[in-house]
Amino acid sequence: MIVIGPRDRFSDKLAENLGCEFFELERKTFPDGEIRPRILGVENINSPGRVILASRLERPLDPNRYLVEILLTAKNIKSLGCDSITLVMPYMVYARQDKIFRPGEPLSAAYIMELLRHAGIDRLVTVSCHFSGIETFCPGLKATSISGFKSIGKHLVEMGLKNPVVIGPDKKSGAWAKEIVDILGSGEYTFLEKHRDRNSGEVQTEETLSVDTSGRDVIIVDDIASSGGTLVNAINIVKKHQPKKIIIAVVHPILSGDCIEKVRTAGADMFLATDTIPSEISKISVIEDIARFIKTCEAKEV
Ligand code: R5P
Repeated sequence: MIVIGPRDRFSDKLAENLGCEFFELERKTFPDGEIRPRILGVENINSPGRVILASRLERPLDPNRYLVEILLTAKNIKSLGCDSITLVMPYMVYARQDKIFRPGEPLSAAYIMELLRHAGIDRLVTVSCHFSGIETFCPGLKATSISGFKSIGKHLVEMGLKNPVVIGPDKKSGAWAKEIVDILGSGEYTFLEKHRDRNSGEVQTEETLSVDTSGRDVIIVDDIASSGGTLVNAINIVKKHQPKKIIIAVVHPILSGDCIEKVRTAGADMFLATDTIPSEISKISVIEDIARFIKTCEAKEV
């Protein structure tokens, strides 16, 4: 098994965790904006066996360029005569369009998965995919979403919080709040009710908070922090109930515009994220969990 990917901390560390040789993907952009990813040292790859293509969405965020790089590289790897390709895409791009919300919209998440499969990818490993059921979303592409909340939970355990309240800023995130409480082994969880206007993107959150947060550490967890609107609404509600400290922990730090500043100004004492996307708040790593999962797959497939 070998790992191919752009040379950064993430793919390097993943290769190290898996105990495999790493081949760098060199990037070139032509003046017209087209890209040419090149696998360095390809002449030393004889019978590549199983190949892990590991690539994170980087900053400045450009999911379209990222996807084209993956598609071109997967086809290229296939031409080397490998046994299989596993794509590690820590943040699944286009996952927020997993439904046709309004007539005329594409089912982007499914179409992207089809493209990955056509490029020769056999298995997709991602982290806390925005939609559930990724395993069955694209026939022919084995897909797994590993929970990023496990790594977040382990990090919070090390902080030694006493009897915290873990809050999901919307109904869906209630399950993630519960996951964190289970890992912490103490505390309570709840979730808020959020409504998003599909046209304007504006978010409204109901004021009701069903757990007493006064004098307690509050952790607000979500899969994505993008504009920060969802988190700011939740912070504003929690603040009215005298918490001791407000900690924000998200899996994917998209952090559009002034998201970090907005969240901090709203009253977050700490804003943490995982390294599925690099950022100044990506202090929690999901690499070990990804490596563990890949090793389990390897062991089953041998
Ligand atoms: C939505 O369903 C997601 O779980 C996140 O709450 C959302 O993507 C966050 O977006 P924003 O930061 O723009 O409110």
